[in-house]
Amino acid sequence: MPNPAALLLLSLSLHFSLCRDPNVLQLTDTNFSHRLKQNPILLVAFFIPWCGPCQKMRPQYSRAANILKGYNLPVALGKLDCSGLGKRTCEQKQIGHHFPVIHLYRNGSFVKEYTNTKDCFGFVKFMRVQILPSAVELKSVDEFKKFIKGQEDVVVVGFFEEESRLRKMFFKVAEKMKERIFFAYTRCEKVLLREGVNNGIVLFRPEITHCRYEEERVLFTGRVVIGEIKNFIIKNYYGLVGCRSPANIIHFPNPLIILYYTVDYNSSGKEPGYWRLRMLKVAHKYQKYVKFVTSAKDDFEEELVDYPVEYGNLMRPFVLAKDLENKKYIMTEEFTSENFDRFVDDFVHHRLEQYHKSKPVPFEGDGVTVMASTSNFNNTVTNNGKDTLLHFYDPGNHTSRLVAMVLREAAHLLLEEDVVVVTMDIGEHEIPPIFPEDKVESLYWLPKDDKENPILYTGRKEVEDVIQFVAEKATTKLKNYDRDGNPTHVKDEL
Ligand SMILES: *[C@@H]1O[C@H](CO)[C@@H](O)[C@H](O)[C@H]1NC(C)=O
Ligand SMILES: *[C@@H]1O[C@H](CO)[C@@H](O)[C@H](O)[C@H]1NC(C)=O
Ligand SMILES: *[C@@H]1O[C@H](CO)[C@@H](O)[C@H](O)[C@H]1NC(C)=O
Ligand SMILES: *[C@@H]1O[C@H](CO)[C@@H](O)[C@H](O)[C@H]1NC(C)=O
Ligand SMILES: *[C@@H]1O[C@H](CO)[C@@H](O)[C@H](O)[C@H]1NC(C)=O
Repeated sequence: MPNPAALLLLSLSLHFSLCRDPNVLQLTDTNFSHRLKQNPILLVAFFIPWCGPCQKMRPQYSRAANILKGYNLPVALGKLDCSGLGKRTCEQKQIGHHFPVIHLYRNGSFVKEYTNTKDCFGFVKFMRVQILPSAVELKSVDEFKKFIKGQEDVVVVGFFEEESRLRKMFFKVAEKMKERIFFAYTRCEKVLLREGVNNGIVLFRPEITHCRYEEERVLFTGRVVIGEIKNFIIKNYYGLVGCRSPANIIHFPNPLIILYYTVDYNSSGKEPGYWRLRMLKVAHKYQKYVKFVTSAKDDFEEELVDYPVEYGNLMRPFVLAKDLENKKYIMTEEFTSENFDRFVDDFVHHRLEQYHKSKPVPFEGDGVTVMASTSNFNNTVTNNGKDTLLHFYDPGNHTSRLVAMVLREAAHLLLEEDVVVVTMDIGEHEIPPIFPEDKVESLYWLPKDDKENPILYTGRKEVEDVIQFVAEKATTKLKNYDRDGNPTHVKDEL
C-alpha cells in the first residue's frame, strides 16, 4: 500500500499519462474496434487509473512500446481506461475484478490473455515472437555483437555449424520458452571461432547487470534432453538473485530467502535491481545452501498477510526465509549487509527460531481512517456530522485485513471529501446496537443525516468500487468525483 506521498505523486503522474506514453495507443469505446482491425497484432491493457498494479505496470508498458517501435515490427500496444472512455467496451467484455487485464488480439480476434511478467521485457519478448521465429538467426560477427550488446535481458544463443541432436533440442526448447526468453542461433563460422563454441548453447547475461559475483556467459554442459536445457536456462536466467513474481513463482522452490520491497510508483520499477545489488554478495557466499529472490510486496499481499510487514514505508524491505519443510523465519533487524549476512548465516546453520504468527495485531489508526471504540462511537460515528463508511474489522480474518487495506487506500482518495472512513476492531469492541446482532457484515454506509439506518455495502471490496459506491451515496456530491465515481478534475496544479 503506497504511503500518502506516493499516492499524491501517483495521481500526479496519472494526469500526465496521455503525453508520457507516446507509443501506447489510447483506446476508447469509439475507436476500439476500428483500431483492432487496423492493427493485426495488438496487445490491449484494460486498466483503471487508481489501481496500484496498473500504476506500477504503466512505465514498463510504455517502455516496451518504445522498444517495439524501435524494432519496427507490425505489433502495437494499446490501453483502455475501464473507468472512463472505455467503460462500455470493458462491460461488454466483462472485464473487472483484478486490473490490469491484458489481452492479445490477432486480426481483430481475441487470442489469449497475457500472463507473462508485467515488466518491460516480458511485454517485448511476448510481442516479438508473435511475428518473429522463436530464435532469430545471427548471420555475422557484427549482428552477433549488436545482438548481445544491445540486450538488457538474458539471451540464449545456439552455436551450430551443422545438424546435431543438441541443435534439434535447442529449437524445441526455444519453441516452448520463446514468450519468456530471447533466443538466437548462429551458423556463422567467424562467430563460432570468435566465441570458441561449436555445437553448444550459451546463456549471456545482459551487460548492464554484469557484476563480479556472476559469470557473464554460461555454457550448457548437461545431458542433451529438453528438461535439462530448460532447467539450465531457468536456473541461470535468474542468476544469484532472482526476481520472483506471481508469474514465475514455481521456479523458486524452498529453501528460499525472499526480500519483499515496496514499489515506489515514481521510480519506473528500478527497485528489484537496487535490492538485488545489495543482496548479491551474501547470495554469492551462501548460494550452495539457499536461493535468493526479490518480490514486490504489492504482488504478494496475500502471502504476507500473516507477517508484520509495513506497507507505508517506501524503503524498508521485509526479509523472509523458508526452509525445506516450509518453516518460516523473519529478519527483524534493519536491512544492512552485515545484518543480512548474519541472518542468512543463522538460517543456514539452523540457529533461527521459527516464526509463529503472534496474536493478531490490532489495526492502528493511521490518521487517514478513524478508529472507533465502544466508548467513543457517538463521537466518531453517530455525531461526527459526516457521511461515514464503517468497517467492522476482524484482525484474525484474512479477508478483513485485505478490506482494511483497500479502505485505507480509498480513505486517501477521499481525504478532501466530507466523508470519513471509520474502522472498529470487533475483536476489542462491542458492536453498537443499531446493527443486527446475530449477523453483522463488514462494511456499512451511514449517511450524515440518518445514522440510525446503516446501509450494508455489498459491492466488490476493491478501491474503485468503494469510491463508486461512496460517490453515488454521498449526501452532497463529492468534490473530486462525479456521481458515477469518475474523477472530475485534472489536478495538474499540484
Ligand atoms: C481514440 O479516441 C480518443 C478520444 O477521441 C483519442 O484521444 C485517441 O487518440 C484515439 N485513439 C486512437 C488510437 O485513435
Ligand atoms: C490477418 O488476415 C490477413 C487476411 O486473411 C492475413 O493475410 C494476415 O496474415 C493476418 N494477420 C495476422 C497477424 O494473422
Ligand atoms: C518523482 O519523479 C519526478 C519526475 O521524474 C521527480 O522530479 C521527483 O523528484 C521524484 N520524486 C521522488 C520522491 O523521487
Ligand atoms: C451515545 O448516544 C446515545 C443516544 O444519544 C446514548 O443513549 C448513549 O448513552 C451514548 N453512549 C455513550 C457511550 O456516550
Ligand atoms: C472473514 O470475513 C469475511 C467478510 O469480511 C467473511 O465472509 C468470512 O466468512 C470471514 N472468515 C472467517 C473465517 O471468519
